[in-house]
Amino acid sequence: MDGPLLIDRLAFDPEAERRDLMAGLLRNPASIAPKYFYDELGCALYGAICRLPEYYPTRTEVALFQEKRLEMAEAIGQGRQFIDLGAGDCCKAKGWLPFLAPARYVAVDIALAEITGALERLAPDFPGVELVGVATDFSHALDLDDVLTETPALFFYPGSSIGNFTPAQARTFLARIRHYCVARPGSSLLIGVDGKKDKALLDAAYDDALGVTAAFNRNALRHLNAKFGLEFDVGGFVHAGFYNEAEGRIEMHLESVRDQSVLLDGQERVFRKGERIHTENSYKYAPAEFEAVLTDAGFASIRRWDAAGVAYSVYHAA
Ligand code: AVI
Repeated sequence: MDGPLLIDRLAFDPEAERRDLMAGLLRNPASIAPKYFYDELGCALYGAICRLPEYYPTRTEVALFQEKRLEMAEAIGQGRQFIDLGAGDCCKAKGWLPFLAPARYVAVDIALAEITGALERLAPDFPGVELVGVATDFSHALDLDDVLTETPALFFYPGSSIGNFTPAQARTFLARIRHYCVARPGSSLLIGVDGKKDKALLDAAYDDALGVTAAFNRNALRHLNAKFGLEFDVGGFVHAGFYNEAEGRIEMHLESVRDQSVLLDGQERVFRKGERIHTENSYKYAPAEFEAVLTDAGFASIRRWDAAGVAYSVYHAA
């Protein structure tokens, strides 16, 4: 089979991207979309977060996949095209390929360099699988119309990344997946979702002792300076990451350590000492809450596997 096919949709409308970014930064309170975490250094820092003792979601999900792999694979069925949403280094999918025997593996992610390298590394081990990489910002809209074939598909969305959408956005996103599933009978979704739990555990997972999550958060400013020629003083902002119990979500912010003004595309934006730039939400769902989101998105048949010891679940929905 030929080498991996790569489709780059990132440079779709750079001017609109710059406008959106500036609008977020000039608003009160200011915000930066979490997609700006994931430049090359940010991907490496996220990989390090996943190995931190405080960050339980990755190892919990890996253990649950290992323990229940056969049951989950039976629910999914073999030979589906495997659509890996937020594929990153493709490591999670790699464990599934021998069990699901797809003819086609589609890695979808915002980090083009990361999926390019990962698909090249995967190719020798899976010579019979058609490998496709799609670099796109699917937090904006999931458009795979010209990428999917007509055969049944498994949509794989692990890691609790669904929590980075608001519940309303999550419903819209999942309804889009459901729409693709309906058009291809035999298709389904396998998704990992983090649960509500003790605030101290959640606070530690998003504000670790080593400061890796802090570096990941602040790296967004470094990335914006490099990509858009902005002039943030990265040292002028500190990490704030905590569980907002009332909203059922982790919030991450960058907090200005002093009064400062930053030049943004020729416009001056003053940040007061203590003023925050919101960078990410990570919603946590009780099982009944997430099942309601899946049902609202149109999924009818839902099965759930719960991790042992910590609130984290994997759902299969068709
Ligand atoms: C990618 N996503 C599921 C992570 C999360 O837990 O919400 C991103 C992250 N942010 C801080 N730590 C990890």
